[in-house]
Amino acid sequence: MKKVISSIVLVIFSLVLIVNCGGGEKKAPATKKEVKKETKMVADLANGEKIFNKVCVACHLTGVAGAPAVTDKKRWEENAAKGFDALYKSVLNGVPKGKYGVMPPRGTCNDCSDKDLFDAVHYILKRAGVTAK
Ligand code: HEC
Repeated sequence: MKKVISSIVLVIFSLVLIVNCGGGEKKAPATKKEVKKETKMVADLANGEKIFNKVCVACHLTGVAGAPAVTDKKRWEENAAKGFDALYKSVLNGVPKGKYGVMPPRGTCNDCSDKDLFDAVHYILKRAGVTAK
């Protein structure tokens, strides 16, 4: 008899657990969607400025070795015409055989995250006064 009672208790306990988990699972997709929305890359221009001043400034401030200076609106208009994604890819992979020079992969910054570089491209474009699709 004792065994039967403890079995029943166990079954009830398991049911409570299952019901609780089920309830949690139902809420999960909504939470996931929210996180996805939040983590969609949105440019952080303040971080972009930090990365620019730390890394990109070496070539892009005055335009060293064929790099477009941040003040060279004409060159940035030419770059922006390729679209944002193309520019972002150029920074991630570098431009080994550019029309004007060689842009090193990640602008030589191996400690920069992809997001840091994403922010830096947005910052350069903003500072140059151009927008890329
Ligand atoms: C060692 C010099 C150097 C550094 C450092 C550097 N760049 Fe460049 N970058 C270049 C040169 C040179 C070009 C021009 C390549 C060409 O079109 O011929 C260029 C081009 C670019 C372009 C245009 C790419 C295209 O497809 O037209 C972007 C965007 C860019 N750089 C962003 C950055 C960012 C962001 C950083 C910092 C994280 C950075 N660069 C650091 C040299 C540099």
